[in-house]
Amino acid sequence: MWAAVGLSLVVLLVTYITHWITQWRNPKCNGVLPPGSMGWPLVGETLNAMTLSNSIDLHPFVKRRVTKYGPIFRTSLVGRPIVVSTDPEFNSHLLQQEGKLVELGFFDSFTKILNLSGEATTTGTVIHKCLRSITLNHFGAETLKEKLLPLIEKTVVETLASWSSQASVEVKHASSVMLFNFSAKHMTGYDAETSSDNLGDKFSRIMNSFLSFPVNVPGTAYHNGLQDRDKIITALRDMLEKRRMSPDTHQGDFLDQISKEKLFSEESVVYAVFGVLLASFEPISSILALAFSLLGEHPAALKELTAENEALLKNRENPNSSLTWDEYKSMTFTRQVVNETLRLGNAAPALLRRALKDIPVKGFTIPAGWTIMAFTTAIQLSPNAFQDPLEFNPWRWKDLDSLVISKNFMPFGRGSRQCAGAEYTRVFLATFLHVLVTKYSWKTIDAGRMVRKNMLLFGASIHIKLSEKKN
Ligand code: HEM
Repeated sequence: MWAAVGLSLVVLLVTYITHWITQWRNPKCNGVLPPGSMGWPLVGETLNAMTLSNSIDLHPFVKRRVTKYGPIFRTSLVGRPIVVSTDPEFNSHLLQQEGKLVELGFFDSFTKILNLSGEATTTGTVIHKCLRSITLNHFGAETLKEKLLPLIEKTVVETLASWSSQASVEVKHASSVMLFNFSAKHMTGYDAETSSDNLGDKFSRIMNSFLSFPVNVPGTAYHNGLQDRDKIITALRDMLEKRRMSPDTHQGDFLDQISKEKLFSEESVVYAVFGVLLASFEPISSILALAFSLLGEHPAALKELTAENEALLKNRENPNSSLTWDEYKSMTFTRQVVNETLRLGNAAPALLRRALKDIPVKGFTIPAGWTIMAFTTAIQLSPNAFQDPLEFNPWRWKDLDSLVISKNFMPFGRGSRQCAGAEYTRVFLATFLHVLVTKYSWKTIDAGRMVRKNMLLFGASIHIKLSEKKN
């Protein structure tokens, strides 16, 4: 008898698990789901999406599935049902539907670490508009022109002088330090030299928890991310507290401006500063490392870049004066190099959204609640938009029509959520290249690896020896 009971239990269990797996593989949908696979129960296809790729091309996870299923496919990552789209028309349509069909939809790990919820994540709300406007106020074109350009140049001059005194420099890490220290000082008055809490390293590590399971177990990327986040938040709270205790230390910076906004609670001030700081340095440092690598491999491009920037110095009355806004605007080839590096780097490959209702697309339906990964930048590496797309060819920008550019080049996203640091990024990169090629040469010691760390994260590693040019 016990054997029969045992057998029935096993049969029940197997039936239940089979039913559950069938449901997992065939999620409910009021229509036809895009083709694809939900992978293994719970894990989905996360492990495939996490693999390293040494190619500059689109991550193989996406590339292989596009070949197999077409430009729109379904999958499951870190416990979430997902539709990935590399279809330019659909992606562009989605970005015009913010707040109507979609809203921001990060993975649970990222949402929890960044404490993203409520109005700041809903496009067009007063809070979103206010945060966007404060960011633009401190990083937008006017501030760059009136205040930041000479400060950026000074930082780059000092940084490169320090790099040249070292036997070798790992560009990605060293650039992260420079960029973080600059934006943290500009936004909050944080002084990395006198501070012992090493906020820059903690910020850098957080990026590794972006595509992780939100399981808070010691040793996991998510757990480490939460720990680093808490330490940073404590440091930011202390800064805010000090400002409130002694109003005479107010500096009119980002922290001051946002903390005076009645819309923001103390908690949301701290998390907003945290979020903008995180956005402000990591992607630029990857692009800078890639620029070293690409220019090292393409001497003709380096020669033309150097000639343009040296000519700029020669045309100055005083060669030692600072870079002016007009000079920045006149650096045509430098801007082409920046564009080409941004195109190939694809540093923010996908925009993440959540479907607010069922979304019909090309005969399929994306169910409400699903995450959509819009690979807006897939087009940047597509032969349909750019000839020999994996070739570093800054000259291609000379002849490209502005309509073609606006349709096929969107490293900073599009629409009402378009990057608030885009102009700052361009100015920082151009200024860096200007100082680099006019004052220094470099030798690559270890070409390192250009890697897509996972399907969302680009990282490049290159070791160089920087030397001052002899006139
Ligand atoms: C290579 C450098 C950068 C890249 C590739 C990049 C990329 C992007 C992209 C694609 C978006 C749109 C996200 C979405 O629609 O979901 C975005 C938004 C944003 N970025 Fe950047 N970014 C860069 C640098 C920066 C910098 C330096 C800052 C700050 C100074 C910054 C601040 C922001 C902010 C605040 C938003 C949100 C805007 C909003 O929601 O209205 N980014 N960025």
